[in-house]
Amino acid sequence: MAFKKIGVVGCGLMGRGIAEVSAKTGYDVVVSEINRELLDKGMAAINQSLAKAVEKGKMTEADRDKTLSKIKGTVDMQEFKDCDLVVEAAIENLGLKKKIFIDLDRICAPGAILSTNTSCLSVMDVAAVTKRPDKVLGCHFFNPVPVMKLLELVKTITTSQETLDAALEWGKSLGKTVIVAPDRPGFIVNRAFMPYMVEAFEMYESGVASREDIDTGVQLGLNHPMGPLTLADMVGLDTLLFVIDAIYAETKNPKFVAPVLLRKMVTAGHLGRKTGKGFYDYK
Ligand code: CAA
Repeated sequence: MAFKKIGVVGCGLMGRGIAEVSAKTGYDVVVSEINRELLDKGMAAINQSLAKAVEKGKMTEADRDKTLSKIKGTVDMQEFKDCDLVVEAAIENLGLKKKIFIDLDRICAPGAILSTNTSCLSVMDVAAVTKRPDKVLGCHFFNPVPVMKLLELVKTITTSQETLDAALEWGKSLGKTVIVAPDRPGFIVNRAFMPYMVEAFEMYESGVASREDIDTGVQLGLNHPMGPLTLADMVGLDTLLFVIDAIYAETKNPKFVAPVLLRKMVTAGHLGRKTGKGFYDYK
């Protein structure tokens, strides 16, 4: 089954990236937000990202215009009614995601595939509120979506092979390398990533090394594009805390106990780049 029209719920950091990449690779896209203000902000960010690509000579002006013409922003979920695939990229709140899936199940055609971009929540929990659990899977993209090469598809115990095959075909057509993960806490990537981040936070908290040495050590010693504390500031400390806590809640594995400092920083609003302060200052 080849998709023609993709729906994206949420035009935040992840949603707008998914919308941009889908439109760039030729799909018609509908992206929704909960109000006009957030929609305008998200659409402006897509415009800016494409303008940067033109500036850098990575895209022609004609291709930018074509991409933009393929994206329709909306505040009305009814617009998803003729989408072949809808990717939900709302905030990481299971109650909210379930509500969105109940709505999508009602609005979308019976054959449409529904997916969630969750980085840590149980995909089965959202599939279970729909009448089409065989057509539900996880589509876990990575930040920044236009740059990161990976798409992690998450197959639940009810996802059909047909659904998985269609999502695999779509993911590859976006230019992503696609892996298939089981619907287990952390899937594949965050199961490896979070203990690494916890260790970096603990090293910093207990004064083993300075933030700069931790970052430089990992960046140059392991050839990572950025060190863990810089990366934490980019991803958002609140997001990381949420993911670590969610995996711990399901596994009770001590590898996923969030360090006290991380919790305090989130409480203080030191969330990283987005608030101007995290492990580093950005003001
Ligand atoms: N949108 C589009 N393009 C972007 C971009 C964005 N937000 N940010 C950077 N780029 C592009 C730049 O245009 C540039 O492209 P060219 O080389 O073709 O000019 C390229 O990416 C490199 O960017 P920069 O030179 O500005 O900066 P950099 O070399 O330091 O790279 C980075 C920036 C791509 C973010 C890189 O540091 C990196 O890959 N960092 C690690 C990111 C990572 O680990 N992400 C995963 C986070 S975890 C997650 O998402 C999962 C989860 O569940 C929590």
